[in-house]
Amino acid sequence: MDSPTYVLNQAFPSERARLEALARLWDAGTMRLVEELGIGPGNRCLEAGAGTGSVAAALAAIVGAEGRVLAVDRDTRFLDDLPAQVEVRHADLLTDDLPAAQFDLVHARLLVAHLHPHRDALHRLAAAVAPGGWLLVEEVDWTYADRVEPDAPSTPR
Ligand SMILES: C[S@@+](CC[C@H](N)C(=O)[O-])C[C@H]1O[C@@H](n2cnc3c(N)ncnc32)[C@H](O)[C@@H]1O
Repeated sequence: MDSPTYVLNQAFPSERARLEALARLWDAGTMRLVEELGIGPGNRCLEAGAGTGSVAAALAAIVGAEGRVLAVDRDTRFLDDLPAQVEVRHADLLTDDLPAAQFDLVHARLLVAHLHPHRDALHRLAAAVAPGGWLLVEEVDWTYADRVEPDAPSTPR
C-alpha cells in the first residue's frame, strides 16, 4: 500500500477507525455544503478518495435511485456495504483516467493535499465535472502544522 505521495501509512492497523473518525468529524459540514450547491435527485456525483464511503453513501441518499455515485480510491478495502447506486472503482487519481465531463458534483475531502503536484490533481478532478457542475474540494490548512506540532517528522513532508 506504499505510495510516493500519500504521507500516511495505509497499513496502519487502525486505518478504518482513523477514516471513520474523519467522517464523524467532517460529514455533517460536507453535506451542508453539498446541499447549498443544490445537488439533488438524479444527479451524478464523483467521490474522489472515498475513504470509508460515508460521503458516497450520503450522496446516494440525496441523488436517489435515478442518480449515480462513483466512489474512487486507491485503497478500496473499506468501501463495502454501500447503497446500490454507488459504484466503487479502484484507481489512482494521479494516473488513472476518470470519466470526462460526466459529473454534476466532484467532491474531494482531505485528498488533494496528498496528491502532487496539487495543480495537476485539481485539473484531473475538474476535467470530470460536467458543464454547469461543481468541484467541491475540502482541505485542512496545513500551513499551521509547524506551529501545532513543530517536531513531527510528517510536517516538512
Ligand atoms: C485522509 S483520507 C480521506 C478520506 C475521505 N475523503 C474523508 O474525508 O473521510 C484520504 C483518502 O484518499 C485516498 N487516496 C490517497 N491518494 C490517492 C490516490 N493517488 N488515488 C486515489 N485515492 C487516493 C486514500 O486511500 C484515502 O482513502
